[in-house]
Amino acid sequence: MFAPTTYRSRRRTLVAQERPESGLVLLLGNQHTPRNYVDNPYPFQQDGTFLYYFGLDRPNLYGLIDLDMGTSTLYGEEATLDDVVWAGEPPALQEEAAAVGVDTVNPPPTLGSRLTQARQQDRTVHILPPYRDEHRLRLGELLNVPHAQLDDAVSEPLIQAVVQQRSVKSSEEVAEIETALERTAQVHACAQAHAVPGASEQEIVGAMTGRLTAEGSAFSFTPTCSVRGEVLHNHSYPNTLTEGDLLLVDAGAVSPRHYAGDVTRVTPVAGTFASRQEAIYRAVLSAQAAAIEALAPDVPFVEIHKHAARTLTEHLIDLGLMQGPAEEAVAAGAHALFFPHGLGHMMGLDVHDMESLGEEFVGYTNDQTRPEQFGLHALRLGRPLHPGFVVTVEPGCYFIPPLIKHWRAEQRHEQFINYERVEDFLGFGGIRIEDDFLVTADGARALGADIPKAPEKVAARAGSSPLS
Ligand code: GLY
Ligand code: MN
Ligand code: MN
Repeated sequence: MFAPTTYRSRRRTLVAQERPESGLVLLLGNQHTPRNYVDNPYPFQQDGTFLYYFGLDRPNLYGLIDLDMGTSTLYGEEATLDDVVWAGEPPALQEEAAAVGVDTVNPPPTLGSRLTQARQQDRTVHILPPYRDEHRLRLGELLNVPHAQLDDAVSEPLIQAVVQQRSVKSSEEVAEIETALERTAQVHACAQAHAVPGASEQEIVGAMTGRLTAEGSAFSFTPTCSVRGEVLHNHSYPNTLTEGDLLLVDAGAVSPRHYAGDVTRVTPVAGTFASRQEAIYRAVLSAQAAAIEALAPDVPFVEIHKHAARTLTEHLIDLGLMQGPAEEAVAAGAHALFFPHGLGHMMGLDVHDMESLGEEFVGYTNDQTRPEQFGLHALRLGRPLHPGFVVTVEPGCYFIPPLIKHWRAEQRHEQFINYERVEDFLGFGGIRIEDDFLVTADGARALGADIPKAPEKVAARAGSSPLS
């Protein structure tokens, strides 16, 4: 955790914001989640907003902030003797609470009466949207709200306040993200070193996992490691690499204080790109460069997305896969056959930062309407950028057989798409290139160690240390 002053000052800022003006803020920490029976849990993952304000990475805690008194209380139990026998002795909760600047720790059973009393006094209890069923149940009980009405009890002013605060990263948060990215760089170097014909995707994931585990780290999300890069979030690893494949690895590590990294690299398994692989790779790299160049305060990210899409489209026109004008093709949404996802998202304590609070609140302002057009609809971030935002920039180009078949059958956008030529690329797979950036006062700064992405550099890294 950071120093106590960090958490105190974050809570103080929340209290001082205009929204929500008064009442109580109730933040739920996460519980262990059973895999198949209660004593066999998944690795523990703390809630991002709870971590942000209360810093403690242990299960079964509640944080309560009184907006009128300016006080903070933690609700949780000290470990029992039985807990200690089975799981070892954790630090005393009272001491951990002091380490995040909280003086008062109460037992969870007293939380219900505190909230009942607050409601009797007509004080609002502000809650965030629950994304785990056990939180739904617990909130329903604590607030005496029927399950079906819980969504109406969520506090939009609290969501807005949390999003406003968490969107702007402090220098200590940025340093954490850079640490996550140093580890992320090692994971990518490891995957590239093993990218040789005969290696299996599963072995490479195993090597990456081993590297992270040895460092006391973990993946910030389930990685993609696949020669089927056209499957956007491909979480299965059944293939063996062969000469001529492209290996797409989308992976990130977490920092000691739980901040995320999120980087994608594509490596030619043979150690050289075939000419059309290189052409598509350069098209994606060029779209990413155009987007990076455009990152700056006040620029709506949706415009940067479109700029990247136009750049990609210009290359696809040169390759005979599309017909222009590029501007019109992108306005119509034709490029989304190849680039069906958004350019990027916020990143911080959550790899898709704060998305449990609602993408509309995180990625769009009140006066923006989220686009419905296919492709653009998947853009999680459209709002104008501000200094302190950390965002990913991750254009891609994919040849997705079922999508191509579907669009071709509908003759969709056929004035812009050369389907004959596209069919030649079936089996190509997909390419995405992703890096993470801090928006600064006059532009943006790439975060983390340099992970080479020039085609000759990624090709040179392929298979430098094959698994035996
Ligand atoms: N790693 C998932 C993504 O890039 O959004
Ligand atoms: Mn990613
Ligand atoms: Mn990403």
